[in-house]
Amino acid sequence: MSETVVSGIRPTGKLHLGNYFGAVQNFLKFQEAHPCYFFIADYHSLTTHPTPEDLGGSVYRVFAEYLALGLDPEKCTLYLQSDVPEVAELYLFLNMNAYLGELERVSSFKEKVRSQPNNINAGLLTYPVLMAADILIHHGTRVPVGKDQEQHLEMARTFGNRFNRMYNTEYFKEPFAIGSDEGLVKVPGLTGGGKMSKSAGEADNIYLDDEPEVLRKKIMRAVSDSGPAEPGSAKSQPVQNLFDLMALVCKPDVIAHFDETHKNGTIRYGDLKKQLAEDMETFVAPLRSRIQDMLNNKELVTKAAKRGAEKARESAAKTITEVRSMMGFRGF
Ligand code: TYM
Repeated sequence: MSETVVSGIRPTGKLHLGNYFGAVQNFLKFQEAHPCYFFIADYHSLTTHPTPEDLGGSVYRVFAEYLALGLDPEKCTLYLQSDVPEVAELYLFLNMNAYLGELERVSSFKEKVRSQPNNINAGLLTYPVLMAADILIHHGTRVPVGKDQEQHLEMARTFGNRFNRMYNTEYFKEPFAIGSDEGLVKVPGLTGGGKMSKSAGEADNIYLDDEPEVLRKKIMRAVSDSGPAEPGSAKSQPVQNLFDLMALVCKPDVIAHFDETHKNGTIRYGDLKKQLAEDMETFVAPLRSRIQDMLNNKELVTKAAKRGAEKARESAAKTITEVRSMMGFRGF
């Protein structure tokens, strides 16, 4: 069966290491072999109420970052979600069959209710419905995302299947989250908590264009234990996080060395972080310079976004025409 790949990233500031290893790395792989639709999820970012200036700036920035990291407008369709209003129409249709109970049970929604009780807007509640529309509008079957999006994909299947049942059709295919061969990725942050996330603040994130000194300082200040653990004891969460970050950018013998010193109780976290900072700089340096170049290449970025919008709308318009007809919007 031929697969169609669809995925997006919210433009909130700039891309971090979690976005890269959770999503972009797989976008690069899939664009070589499949029809791909990759977008900037700018409608989604409205749940956090950005100012018009911040929204515009972040959208441009993340689009330029897509290009700088190697997404190729010749190979895949790169576009802004808001350039494809058909997505909003499909979201409206799907919302009519999305129920309060199931939306309230979504983990990311429950987490927002806990963390930002003063801004629980309807957009947050129906966030998974908009994601389903993003994917179904292009008949996506594979969705490269990090581990945190798995439940949203389950919802996308639910909404697609519900539409199919309601209109007695097999129109929408089931989309599945996909990561690397090892599965869906969760990149930890630097402050000892769970996944790297922009909402956790500047100190938690490694941005793909962090300057060398900023990068070094962030890593040297990362949370770890105050001293080596008892020989043979399990790694604490913050220490496991540092090992998880090492696994992304350090050589296997370096990781094996620190693993061994952790096991025998002689590990020095200052040395580990110094090594991690060095290897992270080696990884980030070429990305940083490509991002800086691309940010200054407004003509190329604008041209790519225009071309992507045209291609994405062509696919979306076909779907929405067919959906309207199936639902009974057929004119007189
Ligand atoms: P967003 O913008 O939070 O993150 C974009 C992508 O990066 C992944 N990611 C991570 N992966 C591993 N470790 C991390 N620490 C980490 N942080 C972020 C996310 O899993 C995601 O793949 N709702 C989505 C955007 C979206 C979307 C879609 C995705 C909107 N519509 C349709 C796929 C299909 C989001 O907020 O991702």
